[in-house]
Amino acid sequence: MTSLFSLCLLQYIRIGAVAQLRPHYYSETCSEAESVVRDVMKEALIREARSLASVMRFQFHDCFVNGCDASMLLDDTPTMLGEKLALANINSLRSYEVVDEAKEALEKVCPGVVSCADIIIMASRDAVALTGGPDWGVKLGRLDSLSASQEASDNVMPSPRANATFLIDLFAKFNLSAKDLVALSGSHSIGQARCFSIMFRLYNQSGTARPDPAIEPKFREKLNKLCPLNVDQNITGDLDATPVVFDNQYFKDLVSGSGFLNSDQTLFTFPETKGFVQQFSSDQEEFFKAFVEGMIKMGDLQVEQPGEVRRNCRVVNSHRPASANTCMSIEEMVNVCMKT
Ligand code: HEM
Ligand SMILES: *[C@@H]1O[C@H](CO)[C@@H](O)[C@H](O)[C@H]1NC(C)=O
Ligand SMILES: *[C@@H]1O[C@H](CO)[C@@H](O)[C@H](O)[C@H]1NC(C)=O
Ligand SMILES: *[C@@H]1O[C@H](CO)[C@@H](O)[C@H](O)[C@H]1NC(C)=O
Ligand SMILES: *[C@@H]1O[C@H](CO)[C@@H](O)[C@H](O)[C@H]1NC(C)=O
Repeated sequence: MTSLFSLCLLQYIRIGAVAQLRPHYYSETCSEAESVVRDVMKEALIREARSLASVMRFQFHDCFVNGCDASMLLDDTPTMLGEKLALANINSLRSYEVVDEAKEALEKVCPGVVSCADIIIMASRDAVALTGGPDWGVKLGRLDSLSASQEASDNVMPSPRANATFLIDLFAKFNLSAKDLVALSGSHSIGQARCFSIMFRLYNQSGTARPDPAIEPKFREKLNKLCPLNVDQNITGDLDATPVVFDNQYFKDLVSGSGFLNSDQTLFTFPETKGFVQQFSSDQEEFFKAFVEGMIKMGDLQVEQPGEVRRNCRVVNSHRPASANTCMSIEEMVNVCMKT
Protein backbone atom coordinates (compact mmCIF):
# COMPACT_ATOMS: atom_id res chain seq x y z
CA MET A 1 0.00 0.00 0.00
CA THR A 2 2.78 2.38 0.92
CA SER A 3 4.60 1.87 -2.34
CA LEU A 4 1.41 2.17 -4.33
CA PHE A 5 0.71 5.32 -2.47
CA SER A 6 4.03 6.97 -3.16
CA LEU A 7 3.85 5.88 -6.77
CA CYS A 8 0.55 7.66 -7.01
CA LEU A 9 1.92 10.84 -5.53
CA LEU A 10 4.84 10.80 -7.90
CA GLN A 11 2.52 10.69 -10.88
CA TYR A 12 0.10 13.11 -9.40
CA ILE A 13 2.39 16.08 -9.82
CA ARG A 14 4.40 15.41 -12.91
CA ILE A 15 7.77 17.03 -12.59
CA GLY A 16 9.45 18.92 -15.35
CA ALA A 17 8.57 16.86 -18.38
CA VAL A 18 6.89 18.33 -21.42
CA ALA A 19 3.61 16.54 -22.12
CA GLN A 20 3.16 14.65 -25.37
CA LEU A 21 0.11 16.24 -26.89
CA ARG A 22 -2.14 14.17 -29.12
CA PRO A 23 -5.66 14.05 -30.54
CA HIS A 24 -8.23 11.97 -28.62
CA TYR A 25 -6.04 12.11 -25.51
CA TYR A 26 -9.08 11.55 -23.28
CA SER A 27 -10.75 8.83 -25.36
CA GLU A 28 -10.06 6.20 -22.70
CA THR A 29 -10.24 8.31 -19.55
CA CYS A 30 -13.03 10.76 -20.38
CA SER A 31 -14.56 10.08 -23.77
CA GLU A 32 -17.21 12.78 -23.18
CA ALA A 33 -14.64 15.53 -22.55
CA GLU A 34 -14.95 17.34 -25.86
CA SER A 35 -18.73 17.13 -26.05
CA VAL A 36 -19.10 18.38 -22.46
CA VAL A 37 -17.03 21.47 -23.24
CA ARG A 38 -18.86 22.10 -26.48
CA ASP A 39 -22.23 21.91 -24.71
CA VAL A 40 -21.11 24.47 -22.15
CA MET A 41 -19.97 26.75 -24.96
CA LYS A 42 -23.31 26.35 -26.73
CA GLU A 43 -25.08 27.48 -23.58
CA ALA A 44 -22.69 30.39 -23.22
CA LEU A 45 -23.46 31.44 -26.78
CA ILE A 46 -27.17 31.57 -26.01
CA ARG A 47 -26.61 33.49 -22.77
CA GLU A 48 -24.15 36.05 -24.12
CA ALA A 49 -22.66 35.76 -27.60
CA ARG A 50 -19.62 37.88 -26.71
CA SER A 51 -18.52 35.42 -24.05
CA LEU A 52 -17.32 33.07 -26.80
CA ALA A 53 -14.89 35.71 -28.02
CA SER A 54 -13.80 36.39 -24.46
CA VAL A 55 -13.06 32.71 -23.87
CA MET A 56 -11.31 32.30 -27.22
CA ARG A 57 -8.95 35.10 -26.25
CA PHE A 58 -7.81 32.97 -23.28
CA GLN A 59 -5.80 30.71 -25.55
CA PHE A 60 -3.59 33.61 -26.63
CA HIS A 61 -3.15 35.02 -23.13
CA ASP A 62 -2.48 31.56 -21.71
CA CYS A 63 -0.15 30.09 -24.33
CA PHE A 64 2.10 33.16 -24.70
CA VAL A 65 2.86 33.24 -20.99
CA ASN A 66 4.93 30.18 -20.02
CA GLY A 67 3.12 27.93 -22.45
CA CYS A 68 -0.47 26.66 -22.49
CA ASP A 69 -0.77 25.75 -18.82
CA ALA A 70 -3.86 27.60 -17.56
CA SER A 71 -1.62 29.86 -15.47
CA MET A 72 -3.82 32.81 -16.43
CA LEU A 73 -6.80 31.22 -14.68
CA LEU A 74 -5.17 31.20 -11.23
CA ASP A 75 -6.47 33.75 -8.75
CA ASP A 76 -3.93 35.81 -6.84
CA THR A 77 -2.98 34.46 -3.42
CA PRO A 78 -1.23 36.22 -0.50
CA THR A 79 2.05 34.81 -1.81
CA MET A 80 1.47 34.91 -5.56
CA LEU A 81 0.69 37.79 -7.91
CA GLY A 82 -1.00 35.97 -10.76
CA GLU A 83 -1.84 37.08 -14.27
CA LYS A 84 -5.40 38.30 -13.82
CA LEU A 85 -4.27 41.80 -12.88
CA ALA A 86 -1.48 41.97 -15.47
CA LEU A 87 -1.56 44.97 -17.82
CA ALA A 88 -3.14 43.16 -20.77
CA ASN A 89 -5.71 41.36 -18.60
CA ILE A 90 -6.97 43.71 -15.89
CA ASN A 91 -10.48 45.05 -16.53
CA SER A 92 -10.29 43.26 -19.84
CA LEU A 93 -10.21 39.46 -19.69
CA ARG A 94 -13.68 38.23 -18.84
CA SER A 95 -15.94 35.16 -18.87
CA TYR A 96 -13.73 33.14 -16.54
CA GLU A 97 -16.99 31.65 -15.26
CA VAL A 98 -17.56 29.85 -18.56
CA VAL A 99 -14.35 27.88 -17.98
CA ASP A 100 -15.48 27.22 -14.41
CA GLU A 101 -18.72 25.78 -15.74
CA ALA A 102 -16.89 23.49 -18.13
CA LYS A 103 -14.60 22.36 -15.33
CA GLU A 104 -17.51 21.67 -12.97
CA ALA A 105 -19.31 19.69 -15.65
CA LEU A 106 -16.15 17.66 -16.37
CA GLU A 107 -15.46 17.02 -12.68
CA LYS A 108 -18.93 15.46 -12.51
CA VAL A 109 -18.37 12.99 -15.34
CA CYS A 110 -14.66 12.25 -14.84
CA PRO A 111 -13.17 13.86 -11.76
CA GLY A 112 -9.52 14.86 -11.78
CA VAL A 113 -8.90 13.94 -15.40
CA VAL A 114 -9.24 16.90 -17.76
CA SER A 115 -6.81 19.78 -17.28
CA CYS A 116 -7.88 23.42 -17.30
CA ALA A 117 -5.19 24.06 -19.93
CA ASP A 118 -6.93 21.59 -22.24
CA ILE A 119 -10.31 23.13 -21.46
CA ILE A 120 -9.01 26.47 -22.76
CA ILE A 121 -7.81 24.83 -25.98
CA MET A 122 -11.10 22.98 -26.54
CA ALA A 123 -13.25 25.97 -25.63
CA SER A 124 -11.32 28.30 -27.95
CA ARG A 125 -11.79 25.91 -30.84
CA ASP A 126 -15.49 25.60 -29.98
CA ALA A 127 -15.90 29.38 -29.83
CA VAL A 128 -14.67 29.65 -33.41
CA ALA A 129 -16.68 26.67 -34.66
CA LEU A 130 -19.90 27.85 -33.01
CA THR A 131 -19.70 31.36 -34.46
CA GLY A 132 -19.35 30.31 -38.09
CA GLY A 133 -15.61 29.68 -38.29
CA PRO A 134 -13.68 26.51 -39.03
CA ASP A 135 -13.76 23.42 -36.81
CA TRP A 136 -10.69 21.29 -36.22
CA GLY A 137 -9.20 18.50 -34.13
CA VAL A 138 -7.19 19.67 -31.13
CA LYS A 139 -4.23 17.98 -29.49
CA LEU A 140 -4.70 17.44 -25.77
CA GLY A 141 -2.79 16.20 -22.73
CA ARG A 142 -1.57 19.46 -21.20
CA LEU A 143 -1.05 19.86 -17.47
CA ASP A 144 -1.98 22.85 -15.34
CA SER A 145 0.76 24.98 -13.83
CA LEU A 146 1.39 25.19 -10.11
CA SER A 147 1.91 28.95 -10.25
CA ALA A 148 1.37 32.08 -12.31
CA SER A 149 3.32 35.27 -12.81
CA GLN A 150 2.00 38.76 -13.36
CA GLU A 151 5.48 39.86 -14.39
CA ALA A 152 5.77 37.13 -17.01
CA SER A 153 2.53 38.34 -18.58
CA ASP A 154 3.56 41.99 -18.47
CA ASN A 155 6.84 41.12 -20.16
CA VAL A 156 5.19 39.33 -23.05
CA MET A 157 1.64 40.41 -23.87
CA PRO A 158 1.55 43.07 -26.58
CA SER A 159 -0.10 46.46 -26.29
CA PRO A 160 -2.88 47.53 -28.68
CA ARG A 161 -0.46 50.32 -29.69
CA ALA A 162 2.00 47.82 -31.15
CA ASN A 163 2.93 48.06 -34.82
CA ALA A 164 3.36 45.18 -37.26
CA THR A 165 7.19 45.15 -37.04
CA PHE A 166 7.07 44.76 -33.30
CA LEU A 167 4.39 42.06 -33.52
CA ILE A 168 6.29 40.11 -36.18
CA ASP A 169 9.34 40.04 -33.90
CA LEU A 170 7.26 39.07 -30.88
CA PHE A 171 5.48 36.22 -32.67
CA ALA A 172 8.80 35.00 -34.10
CA LYS A 173 9.94 34.35 -30.53
CA PHE A 174 7.14 31.78 -30.38
CA ASN A 175 8.04 30.29 -33.76
CA LEU A 176 5.01 31.96 -35.29
CA SER A 177 5.43 33.52 -38.74
CA ALA A 178 4.14 36.83 -40.09
CA LYS A 179 1.39 34.83 -41.76
CA ASP A 180 0.49 33.21 -38.43
CA LEU A 181 0.39 36.68 -36.85
CA VAL A 182 -2.04 38.02 -39.45
CA ALA A 183 -4.22 34.91 -39.40
CA LEU A 184 -4.36 34.78 -35.59
CA SER A 185 -5.17 38.49 -35.42
CA GLY A 186 -8.23 37.45 -37.43
CA SER A 187 -9.57 36.23 -34.09
CA HIS A 188 -10.60 39.87 -33.75
CA SER A 189 -13.33 38.90 -36.18
CA ILE A 190 -15.33 38.31 -33.00
CA GLY A 191 -15.59 40.30 -29.80
CA GLN A 192 -15.14 43.81 -28.49
CA ALA A 193 -12.55 46.16 -27.06
CA ARG A 194 -12.67 49.14 -24.70
CA CYS A 195 -12.29 52.81 -25.56
CA PHE A 196 -9.29 52.57 -23.23
CA SER A 197 -7.52 50.58 -25.94
CA ILE A 198 -7.96 53.21 -28.66
CA MET A 199 -7.97 56.63 -26.96
CA PHE A 200 -4.33 57.33 -27.88
CA ARG A 201 -5.06 56.39 -31.48
CA LEU A 202 -8.05 58.72 -31.72
CA TYR A 203 -6.48 61.76 -30.05
CA ASN A 204 -2.71 61.44 -29.71
CA GLN A 205 -1.17 58.82 -32.00
CA SER A 206 2.55 58.44 -31.21
CA GLY A 207 2.45 61.68 -29.20
CA THR A 208 1.48 63.77 -32.24
CA ALA A 209 -1.69 65.19 -30.65
CA ARG A 210 -3.34 63.94 -33.87
CA PRO A 211 -5.34 60.81 -34.67
CA ASP A 212 -3.82 57.83 -36.48
CA PRO A 213 -3.92 58.91 -40.16
CA ALA A 214 -4.66 55.30 -41.20
CA ILE A 215 -8.23 55.53 -39.82
CA GLU A 216 -10.79 56.08 -42.58
CA PRO A 217 -12.47 59.47 -41.84
CA LYS A 218 -16.09 58.24 -41.59
CA PHE A 219 -15.02 55.38 -39.34
CA ARG A 220 -13.06 57.84 -37.22
CA GLU A 221 -16.19 59.97 -36.76
CA LYS A 222 -17.95 56.87 -35.52
CA LEU A 223 -15.15 56.03 -33.11
CA ASN A 224 -15.04 59.63 -31.87
CA LYS A 225 -18.74 59.37 -31.04
CA LEU A 226 -18.26 56.07 -29.24
CA CYS A 227 -15.17 57.25 -27.37
CA PRO A 228 -15.15 61.05 -26.89
CA LEU A 229 -12.43 62.52 -24.66
CA ASN A 230 -13.66 62.06 -21.06
CA VAL A 231 -15.68 58.96 -21.97
CA ASP A 232 -15.92 56.10 -19.46
CA GLN A 233 -13.06 54.14 -20.99
CA ASN A 234 -14.69 50.83 -20.09
CA ILE A 235 -17.25 51.43 -22.84
CA THR A 236 -16.72 48.87 -25.60
CA GLY A 237 -16.97 48.81 -29.38
CA ASP A 238 -16.98 45.96 -31.88
CA LEU A 239 -13.64 44.69 -33.16
CA ASP A 240 -15.11 44.31 -36.65
CA ALA A 241 -18.39 44.97 -38.44
CA THR A 242 -19.72 41.44 -37.73
CA PRO A 243 -18.65 40.88 -34.08
CA VAL A 244 -20.57 37.68 -33.38
CA VAL A 245 -19.70 35.96 -36.64
CA PHE A 246 -16.27 34.45 -37.23
CA ASP A 247 -15.58 35.40 -40.83
CA ASN A 248 -13.11 37.42 -42.88
CA GLN A 249 -14.96 40.73 -42.43
CA TYR A 250 -12.14 41.78 -40.08
CA PHE A 251 -9.70 41.79 -43.01
CA LYS A 252 -12.14 43.64 -45.27
CA ASP A 253 -12.40 46.26 -42.54
CA LEU A 254 -8.61 46.59 -42.38
CA VAL A 255 -8.45 47.11 -46.15
CA SER A 256 -11.00 49.93 -45.87
CA GLY A 257 -9.18 51.60 -42.96
CA SER A 258 -11.79 50.50 -40.42
CA GLY A 259 -9.66 48.41 -38.08
CA PHE A 260 -10.51 49.03 -34.42
CA LEU A 261 -7.13 48.65 -32.72
CA ASN A 262 -3.87 50.17 -33.87
CA SER A 263 -2.37 46.67 -33.76
CA ASP A 264 -5.07 45.60 -36.22
CA GLN A 265 -4.80 48.45 -38.72
CA THR A 266 -1.00 48.32 -38.74
CA LEU A 267 -1.20 44.86 -40.33
CA PHE A 268 -2.50 46.57 -43.43
CA THR A 269 -0.32 49.68 -43.36
CA PHE A 270 2.97 47.79 -42.98
CA PRO A 271 4.28 46.13 -46.17
CA GLU A 272 5.49 42.99 -44.33
CA THR A 273 1.94 41.94 -43.49
CA LYS A 274 -0.23 43.81 -46.00
CA GLY A 275 -0.22 40.98 -48.55
CA PHE A 276 -1.67 38.50 -46.08
CA VAL A 277 -4.42 40.95 -45.10
CA GLN A 278 -5.32 41.40 -48.76
CA GLN A 279 -5.27 37.67 -49.36
CA PHE A 280 -7.48 36.85 -46.36
CA SER A 281 -9.88 39.71 -47.17
CA SER A 282 -10.62 38.17 -50.55
CA ASP A 283 -10.36 34.48 -49.66
CA GLN A 284 -12.10 33.34 -46.48
CA GLU A 285 -11.05 29.71 -46.95
CA GLU A 286 -7.39 30.74 -47.00
CA PHE A 287 -7.95 32.68 -43.79
CA PHE A 288 -9.63 29.73 -42.09
CA LYS A 289 -6.84 27.38 -43.14
CA ALA A 290 -4.10 29.70 -41.90
CA PHE A 291 -6.02 30.42 -38.71
CA VAL A 292 -6.34 26.74 -37.81
CA GLU A 293 -2.62 26.22 -38.47
CA GLY A 294 -1.79 29.17 -36.23
CA MET A 295 -4.07 28.00 -33.42
CA ILE A 296 -2.51 24.53 -33.48
CA LYS A 297 1.02 25.97 -33.40
CA MET A 298 0.10 28.33 -30.59
CA GLY A 299 -1.50 25.43 -28.71
CA ASP A 300 1.78 23.50 -28.94
CA LEU A 301 3.65 26.07 -26.82
CA GLN A 302 4.89 24.46 -23.64
CA VAL A 303 7.66 25.03 -21.14
CA GLU A 304 9.24 22.43 -18.91
CA GLN A 305 7.68 22.80 -15.50
CA PRO A 306 5.85 20.67 -12.94
CA GLY A 307 2.15 20.26 -13.56
CA GLU A 308 -1.06 18.72 -12.34
CA VAL A 309 -4.74 18.44 -13.25
CA ARG A 310 -6.39 21.13 -11.17
CA ARG A 311 -9.73 20.34 -9.56
CA ASN A 312 -10.68 24.02 -9.60
CA CYS A 313 -9.17 26.10 -12.39
CA ARG A 314 -8.69 29.11 -10.11
CA VAL A 315 -6.52 27.43 -7.46
CA VAL A 316 -3.78 24.81 -7.38
CA ASN A 317 -4.65 21.53 -5.67
CA SER A 318 -3.45 21.35 -2.11
CA HIS A 319 -0.74 18.78 -1.88
CA ARG A 320 -0.50 17.25 1.52
CA PRO A 321 2.87 15.98 2.76
CA ALA A 322 3.80 12.57 1.41
CA SER A 323 4.98 11.38 4.82
CA ALA A 324 1.59 11.47 6.49
CA ASN A 325 -0.57 8.35 6.19
CA THR A 326 -3.72 10.38 6.19
CA CYS A 327 -2.76 12.55 3.29
CA MET A 328 -5.34 11.01 1.02
CA SER A 329 -8.38 8.87 1.51
CA ILE A 330 -8.24 5.46 -0.14
CA GLU A 331 -10.98 6.63 -2.41
CA GLU A 332 -9.04 9.68 -3.49
CA MET A 333 -5.94 7.61 -3.97
CA VAL A 334 -7.64 5.08 -6.19
CA ASN A 335 -9.07 7.93 -8.19
CA VAL A 336 -5.68 9.49 -8.70
CA CYS A 337 -4.07 6.18 -9.60
CA MET A 338 -6.70 5.38 -12.13
CA LYS A 339 -6.33 8.73 -13.82
CA THR A 340 -2.58 8.77 -14.19
C1 HEM B 1 -1.45 40.33 -32.34
C2 HEM B 1 -1.46 40.88 -31.16
C3 HEM B 1 -2.70 41.15 -30.39
C4 HEM B 1 -2.99 42.29 -29.72
C5 HEM B 1 -2.10 43.52 -29.59
C6 HEM B 1 -4.29 42.12 -29.14
C7 HEM B 1 -4.92 43.05 -28.35
C8 HEM B 1 -6.23 42.99 -27.95
C9 HEM B 1 -6.90 44.02 -27.23
C10 HEM B 1 -6.27 45.33 -26.79
C11 HEM B 1 -8.18 43.62 -27.05
C12 HEM B 1 -9.29 44.40 -26.35
C13 HEM B 1 -8.97 44.54 -24.90
C14 HEM B 1 -9.82 45.56 -24.20
O1 HEM B 1 -9.96 46.67 -24.71
O2 HEM B 1 -10.31 45.25 -23.11
C15 HEM B 1 -8.32 42.34 -27.65
C16 HEM B 1 -9.48 41.59 -27.69
C17 HEM B 1 -9.56 40.32 -28.18
N1 HEM B 1 -8.50 39.55 -28.60
FE1 HEM B 1 -6.66 40.21 -29.07
N2 HEM B 1 -4.78 40.90 -29.47
C18 HEM B 1 -3.85 40.26 -30.22
C19 HEM B 1 -3.92 38.97 -30.69
C20 HEM B 1 -4.96 38.10 -30.41
C21 HEM B 1 -4.92 36.68 -30.64
C22 HEM B 1 -3.73 35.91 -31.21
C23 HEM B 1 -6.13 36.19 -30.24
C24 HEM B 1 -6.65 34.78 -30.24
C25 HEM B 1 -6.21 33.85 -31.06
C26 HEM B 1 -6.92 37.31 -29.78
C27 HEM B 1 -8.24 37.26 -29.39
C28 HEM B 1 -8.98 38.34 -28.97
C29 HEM B 1 -10.42 38.33 -28.84
C30 HEM B 1 -11.35 37.18 -29.23
C31 HEM B 1 -10.78 39.57 -28.32
C32 HEM B 1 -12.20 40.03 -27.94
C33 HEM B 1 -12.47 39.59 -26.51
C34 HEM B 1 -13.80 40.01 -25.94
O3 HEM B 1 -14.71 40.45 -26.65
O4 HEM B 1 -13.93 39.91 -24.70
N3 HEM B 1 -6.16 38.44 -29.87
N4 HEM B 1 -7.10 41.95 -28.18
C1 LIG C 1 7.33 50.05 -34.37
O1 LIG C 1 7.33 49.96 -32.97
C2 LIG C 1 8.61 49.88 -32.41
C3 LIG C 1 8.46 49.59 -30.92
O2 LIG C 1 7.55 50.45 -30.34
C4 LIG C 1 9.36 51.17 -32.69
O3 LIG C 1 10.65 51.13 -32.13
C5 LIG C 1 9.46 51.33 -34.20
O4 LIG C 1 10.07 52.59 -34.51
C6 LIG C 1 8.09 51.26 -34.85
N1 LIG C 1 8.28 51.20 -36.29
C7 LIG C 1 7.71 52.06 -37.12
C8 LIG C 1 8.08 51.92 -38.57
O5 LIG C 1 6.94 52.91 -36.75
C1 LIG D 1 11.09 27.26 -31.65
O1 LIG D 1 11.66 26.23 -32.43
C2 LIG D 1 12.96 25.90 -32.04
C3 LIG D 1 13.54 24.93 -33.05
O2 LIG D 1 12.62 23.92 -33.35
C4 LIG D 1 12.94 25.34 -30.60
O3 LIG D 1 14.23 25.04 -30.17
C5 LIG D 1 12.35 26.39 -29.68
O4 LIG D 1 12.19 25.87 -28.39
C6 LIG D 1 10.99 26.84 -30.20
N1 LIG D 1 10.53 27.95 -29.39
C7 LIG D 1 9.34 27.95 -28.79
C8 LIG D 1 9.02 29.15 -27.99
O5 LIG D 1 8.55 27.04 -28.88
C1 LIG E 1 0.43 63.02 -26.22
O1 LIG E 1 1.46 62.07 -26.06
C2 LIG E 1 2.69 62.68 -25.71
C3 LIG E 1 3.76 61.62 -25.73
O2 LIG E 1 3.31 60.40 -25.26
C4 LIG E 1 2.53 63.34 -24.34
O3 LIG E 1 3.76 63.94 -23.94
C5 LIG E 1 1.44 64.39 -24.41
O4 LIG E 1 1.22 64.95 -23.14
C6 LIG E 1 0.16 63.77 -24.94
N1 LIG E 1 -0.80 64.81 -25.18
C7 LIG E 1 -2.06 64.76 -24.70
C8 LIG E 1 -2.96 65.86 -25.07
O5 LIG E 1 -2.41 63.80 -24.00
C1 LIG F 1 -13.15 50.19 -15.51
O1 LIG F 1 -13.87 49.61 -14.46
C2 LIG F 1 -13.07 49.16 -13.38
C3 LIG F 1 -13.89 48.43 -12.35
O2 LIG F 1 -15.17 48.20 -12.78
C4 LIG F 1 -12.34 50.33 -12.77
O3 LIG F 1 -11.55 49.91 -11.67
C5 LIG F 1 -11.46 50.97 -13.82
O4 LIG F 1 -10.82 52.09 -13.32
C6 LIG F 1 -12.26 51.33 -15.05
N1 LIG F 1 -11.29 51.63 -16.09
C7 LIG F 1 -11.33 52.70 -16.84
C8 LIG F 1 -10.27 52.82 -17.87
O5 LIG F 1 -12.17 53.58 -16.71
